[in-house]
Amino acid sequence: MHRLVSVPDKPMKTRAAIVYELNQPVVVEDIEVDPPKQGEVLVKMVASGVCHSDLSVITGTILNPRPIVLGHEGAGIIAEVGAGVTSVKPGDPVMLTFVTPCGRCSYCTVGQPNLCATHWGAQPRGALFDGTCRYHKAEQSFYQMARVGTMSEYAVVSENAVIPVSQDTPLDKAALIGCGVTTGVGAVMRTAEVEAGSNVAIIGAGGVGLNVVQGAVLVGAAKIIVVDIVPRKLAFARQFGATHTVDASKEDAVEKVRELTDQEGVHYAFEVIGNPRTIEQAFHMLRMGGTAVIVGIAPSDANISIPAALFPYGERRLVGSMYGSARMRVDMLRLLDLYRTGKLKLDELITKTYTLDQVNEAFADMEAGMNIRGVILYE
Ligand code: APR
Ligand code: ZN
Ligand code: ZN
Repeated sequence: MHRLVSVPDKPMKTRAAIVYELNQPVVVEDIEVDPPKQGEVLVKMVASGVCHSDLSVITGTILNPRPIVLGHEGAGIIAEVGAGVTSVKPGDPVMLTFVTPCGRCSYCTVGQPNLCATHWGAQPRGALFDGTCRYHKAEQSFYQMARVGTMSEYAVVSENAVIPVSQDTPLDKAALIGCGVTTGVGAVMRTAEVEAGSNVAIIGAGGVGLNVVQGAVLVGAAKIIVVDIVPRKLAFARQFGATHTVDASKEDAVEKVRELTDQEGVHYAFEVIGNPRTIEQAFHMLRMGGTAVIVGIAPSDANISIPAALFPYGERRLVGSMYGSARMRVDMLRLLDLYRTGKLKLDELITKTYTLDQVNEAFADMEAGMNIRGVILYE
C-alpha cells in the first residue's frame, strides 16, 4: 500500500505551519530542512491531527520557543535515516509520539517513558536532543513542537519518536493515536485504572475528551456522564458511548452529576479542558474514595482552589495524567489493535480534513466547536 518515498535534492525544502508571534495567524511557507543526523529519521508526513494543544502554542497557554513548526499528532512514512538508525528503514510507515523517550533515564527505565526526564528537561524545548534545529530559512532556525512538528510535509525527528506500524495501517487514522486517542483512553486505562462498573464523569467532550469516553466504554464503566457547553459535542459524546450528558451552559454540572448518581458522586471524574474552574468541578463531583484526573493543560500561572479537608475526609484523590501514562511503544500499538478488531473508533473521530494551507481554517473550526478532530492530509 505504501510506496518508497523519493527524497528531493539537497538542500531540501518543506512546507510547514509556523508560529512566529503569539495570537497571530499561522504562517504556512517553505523552509529548508537538513538531512537527519545520527539517530534521527526524516519522515514524509501523511496526516497530522489538529489538537487543542496546538492552539495553546498559538495563544501562549503552552509556552514554547519561537518560531516553531506546529503539530504533535501525526503519522507518515520514513523517507531517510541518519547514521546508526536500526529500528526503521525508508518506506516504513510510522506513528509519531509527542514525547521522545531517551530510553535511559530513570523514568524510561521503570516504564514511564511519557515522563522521560531527557525529553522534558533538555533545553531548548522544541530542538532535537543535541540542542540544535533542523529547519532554517536564511539565518533563522525553527523549533519543532514537542520535538516533532507534524504540521510540515517533512519532519526530522529522533528515531525514538517514531513507532513502526504494519504496511496496511491507514495512516490518517493512526495519526490520531499520536496524541488524542492515547491521551484520552490512557487516562482511563492506565492513569486511573478504572474498574468495570464504576461511574465516571468527563468534563470536556473534545478530541481528547471523547477518547476518555471511549476508554470508559472499553473498561466497562457503568454510568458515563459527559459535560460540555456545546450541544453538538454532547451529541458526539452519546455517539461514542456516553450514557448521560449535561449541558453546563444551562445546568450546574456538579449538582447534575450528583443527581444522576443518587447524590453520591462518581468514582472517577476527568477534566479534559485545562480550565481551573472545571478542574475544581471535577473534584466536587467525586464520591468518597473517588479520584479526579486532570488531563487538560491549564496556563502555567493558573491556580485551583479546593477545600483541603475534603482530601482526608472521604479519601478523595486528585491526580494528573500526561499522555495517558502511556508506554508509547506498547500502548499505541495496542490501541491500533483495538481499532482493527472493531473496539475503538478512529474513523468517527475525523470530522473534517484540510490541506496544510488551510490550517488557520482548521483552528477557526476548532474554536467554533465544529470538529471532533480536524486532520491535515498531505499530498
Ligand atoms: N465546561 C464544559 N465544557 C467546556 C468548557 C466548560 N467551561 N469550556 C470548554 N469546554 C469544552 C469545549 O466545548 C470542547 O468540546 O471542552 C472541549 C475541548 O475540546 P477541544 O477544543 O477539542 O480540545 P482537545 O483537543 O480535546 O484538548 C483538551 O487536553 O491535551 C489537552 O491541551 C489540551 O488542554 C487541552 C485538552
Ligand atoms: Zn495534543
Ligand atoms: Zn528517558
